[in-house]
Amino acid sequence: MKLLSLIALCAITSAHEITQLKVPLYADPRRAAELSCHFQMDDQRLHSVKWYRDMNEIFRYNPSQKPPIRLFNVSGIMVQGGDCQADSCMVRVMPPPVATRAAYSCEVSTEGPKFQIARQTKHMTVVAMPDKDPVIIGAPKLVKPGEQMLLNCTSDFSLPPSEINWFIDNELQKPEAWQRTEYSIPQAGGLRASWRILRVRVPTNASGALRIRCEALLQVEPPVVRDAVSIITVYSRTQLSKYVSSKGISLAGISANMCLIAIIWTFKDISRFVSL
Ligand SMILES: *[C@@H]1O[C@H](CO)[C@@H](O)[C@H](O)[C@H]1NC(C)=O
Ligand SMILES: *[C@@H]1O[C@H](CO)[C@@H](O)[C@H](O)[C@H]1NC(C)=O
Repeated sequence: MKLLSLIALCAITSAHEITQLKVPLYADPRRAAELSCHFQMDDQRLHSVKWYRDMNEIFRYNPSQKPPIRLFNVSGIMVQGGDCQADSCMVRVMPPPVATRAAYSCEVSTEGPKFQIARQTKHMTVVAMPDKDPVIIGAPKLVKPGEQMLLNCTSDFSLPPSEINWFIDNELQKPEAWQRTEYSIPQAGGLRASWRILRVRVPTNASGALRIRCEALLQVEPPVVRDAVSIITVYSRTQLSKYVSSKGISLAGISANMCLIAIIWTFKDISRFVSL
C-alpha cells in the first residue's frame, strides 16, 4: 500500500519538470546576459512560465493571454525581453552596474485543475574582469642604496575594482594610511580603475636588484590576480667607485700632499730637537 502511494506521488511530481536551467555564473555589467529555462510538459498543459530575480517577478509568459509575454520591473534590473517556445523560455537581463550576486528562478506551472509548479533557482554574479595587467609608474632602472622612490601602480578597469598589493622581493608591503588603494570614478557598467602608491627607501646594505611586484586582486570566487614586475638595479660597490672615480683621484692627491706636509713638519721638529 505504502509503495503504491509512493509510486503515485512520483507519477504526479514527474508529470512536468524543468529539464535545464541555464544561468551564467558571471555576467558582464556592460552586456545583457541570456538566461534560459527548458522544461518538459509530458501530457500536461502549460499555464505560465515566470522568471524571478530574488523575490521579484521580472517576466511572465502566459500563452493564453494577449500579449503572451509581460516584463516586470524593467527599470530596476532592465529585463530587455524574452522569447518562449513550447518547451523553453529565454530572457535577456541587463545586470545592474554593481558587483552583486542574485538568485534567478524559473517557475513553470500547469493548467488547472491541478496547477502544479516546478521551480529551479541558480545564482548569477555581476563581474567585469580586467583585460590588461596593472602598470607600474615611476620605477627607475638604477637606484643608490639609501635613495627614496615613489611608485604608482594602476590597475585596469574592473567590477568589483581591484585591490592593489605591493611586494618587494616577494615580501608584502604593509600600506601606510595615505597609501591605501584609491579608485577612479565609475565608467559604464560601474567599472573602476584603482591605484596605490608605494614609497620605498632602498636599504643602505642593498645590492644586486630589487624585484618590485604590483598585484591587482579581484575579490571574486575564486579570486582573480593580474600583476606587473619591475626589476630595479642597485648600484654595486664597483659601480659606485667607478661613479665617483674622478673625485676620488683628486681627493687622494690632496691627502697625499697633506701627508707629505705632515712628514716635513715632523722632520723639521726632529732636526730641531736633534740640533738642540
Ligand atoms: C524592482 O527591482 C528592485 C531590485 O531588484 C527591487 O528592489 C524592487 O522591489 C522591485 N520592484 C518590484 C515592484 O518588483
Ligand atoms: C597614479 O596614477 C594614476 C594614473 O595612472 C593617476 O590617476 C593617479 O593620480 C596617480 N596617483 C598619484 C598619487 O600620483
